[in-house]
Amino acid sequence: MTKLASEATKTIVPIPRARVQAMPEYHPPLGCRDTLRLDFNENTVACSPKVRDVLGRISAGSLTRYPERTPVEAIVAAHLGLQPAQLALTNGVDEAIHVLFEAFLEEGDELLLPVPTYTMYEIYASATDARTVAVQAGDDLKFPFGPLLAAITPRTKIIAIANPNSPSGSAATRAQLLEIATRAPHAVLLVDEAYFHFFGETTIDLVGIIPNLMVARTFSKAYGLAGLRLGLLAGPVELVCWVRRVLSPYSVNSLALACLPPALEDAAYLDWYVAEVLAARTEFEGALDQAGVRHWPSRANFVLIEIGAQHKEFTRLMSAAGVLVRDRSSDPGCDGRVRITIGTREQMRQAVVAFNEALATLKIKGGAL
Ligand SMILES: Cc1ncc(COP(=O)(O)O)c(C=O)c1O
Repeated sequence: MTKLASEATKTIVPIPRARVQAMPEYHPPLGCRDTLRLDFNENTVACSPKVRDVLGRISAGSLTRYPERTPVEAIVAAHLGLQPAQLALTNGVDEAIHVLFEAFLEEGDELLLPVPTYTMYEIYASATDARTVAVQAGDDLKFPFGPLLAAITPRTKIIAIANPNSPSGSAATRAQLLEIATRAPHAVLLVDEAYFHFFGETTIDLVGIIPNLMVARTFSKAYGLAGLRLGLLAGPVELVCWVRRVLSPYSVNSLALACLPPALEDAAYLDWYVAEVLAARTEFEGALDQAGVRHWPSRANFVLIEIGAQHKEFTRLMSAAGVLVRDRSSDPGCDGRVRITIGTREQMRQAVVAFNEALATLKIKGGAL
């Protein structure tokens, strides 16, 4: 590079949009996670063996072709009792959120969020010109139904509700969701059912019936396919068609598409994993009660617990003992709280040993506030 060219690259730096410069950073899992991963609510065992069989048979030649999502969308739609045009496969639910926000949020609009909730809603919204209106849950972290209804305005454009919610584990009822959809007909109600399989209740049967309802599902959690990045967004054709305008036609890769049908077919594997996690959750909650540690009732594959002022040290000690957990202290209303993913009973027994040792080291007893 000439002296002149190198000076120019030093001084002239392209500047991103102001919105992007102001965006909060998201910190994904950092290396060395080859241990007991109870920090990102993933499946802690594996995907279905039927998926692994399909993966093993994928030919190098098939990778030369662009992925074709349409046939797989038809299979997934049939599985969910929907029309293919009512559903778009996405590169994880994260992409579903991203494209939905891109398609609908503009200047003057409001994104309505009960908080604390999944971080990516606010991050993707911050790249748009819309404003986020956060409705804080109370100390019980229950779904703040009344305050959320009261916060609906003519400017509300999207209401995003993770159901069950993360990191609280609490859930809104179907009646509450219906009421919200009815009270905000001018807004999209996004019900993010990432943890549906552990909860068992859904609104996906109302897709196409409630004109402003969209439902997201992921294959990252119960199905154990987080690494493949697979999600979906279902809604009335009139809304899904706008999302498709923004969505890249190839964002779901061909390996992911090949794995989806066997994942859906293997209901026995999914049922086994979900039943195991639910049994482990009950046992783990018992251990928390025994240790006198406050926790919030959870409808998902994680539990939020109260550690108090020593939350950082607790997280560090757990990690040193080979158990990764997630400090949620920076979430609104979650100071001193840590979220622990539920794995199998065996894994959770290992976690309880590390947990009790950490509490003893930190001299925490009875919730530690
Ligand atoms: C509520 C919620 N929605 C979506 C996601 C992301 O799902 P995906 O892996 O499909 O992008 C998560 C991940 O933790 C989540 O908690």
